[in-house]
Amino acid sequence: MFTQIEITTACNAHCFYCPQDTLPHSHMSEECFKKIVQSEKTPTLLLLQGTGEPLMHPSFWKMVVFAKEMGHHIGIITNGSIDIDPKHLFLLDTIGFSMDTLDEEIAKRSGRTSPSKTLKHLLACHSLTPKKIKLYAVNYGQNLEPLKAFAKEQNIPLLIQRIQPKKSYQAHYTTEPLPYTTYQCTYLENKKMHYYFVDGTKAPCCFMIDATKVLPIKQIWQHLEQKNVPPCCTQCGELTGVKRLYM
Ligand SMILES: C[S@@+](CC[C@H](N)C(=O)[O-])C[C@H]1O[C@@H](n2cnc3c(N)ncnc32)[C@H](O)[C@@H]1O
Ligand code: SF4
Ligand code: SF4
Repeated sequence: MFTQIEITTACNAHCFYCPQDTLPHSHMSEECFKKIVQSEKTPTLLLLQGTGEPLMHPSFWKMVVFAKEMGHHIGIITNGSIDIDPKHLFLLDTIGFSMDTLDEEIAKRSGRTSPSKTLKHLLACHSLTPKKIKLYAVNYGQNLEPLKAFAKEQNIPLLIQRIQPKKSYQAHYTTEPLPYTTYQCTYLENKKMHYYFVDGTKAPCCFMIDATKVLPIKQIWQHLEQKNVPPCCTQCGELTGVKRLYM
């Protein structure tokens, strides 16, 4: 069990596969963040990202210090466009850098920020804390071999994410909606995580796009038991049978 908190929906990139551009941009208030963190009764892993770039939150490091003082472990995934001051590195337990390609042109076309900038920041962190660093790539059909070779050479774990199209921003995809193959959800069955949207709304997973559509867990169960797709769960990999992550 871990907790993920969407501390901001602001971002300086426009990745075509991400719903970020379709959401209003806001930052979670420090008050809301503290309340969530304090509601965790025992120290846990807190992942501080949702649909947005976590390092764009103006109080990011203040919030991390608060959570650290409460005994939590902190992880982030960043697009790597913003420098991390080496003196702050000890506060983070895992740092994921998202990079789908080393090619500047392909990255630009996809809406990502400059890979050379991300590489510079990633290598600076890696030289100081190699064990904390991971690479995350979204596979949208680009040549992943150069990125795989780089990760292998540097001995950095590379996690490849299958693209997750959602009905709410289907306009951004050429793919058709996927058929539903199951009405089972391992996130509900195994209580895998708590997710908090930027407005503090709580959800049982990080795969719902719209906080206004989140249903209480009991109602999600009821829908699934009746072999209905709950409105908050459309196109979720749990129900379409699409595995999200591979190495
Ligand atoms: C939403 S981003 C937030 C953190 C940060 N802005 C970043 O890009 O790393 C977290 C991760 O989700 C991935 N992601 C975004 N949209 C996706 C999609 N439609 N399918 C699969 N992964 C996606 C990103 O590539 C990134 O690795
Ligand atoms: S950098 Fe992250 S949050 Fe921003 S658009 Fe890309 S995937 Fe979405
Ligand atoms: S979106 Fe629905 S089906 Fe998917 S993981 Fe979340 S609760 Fe389960």
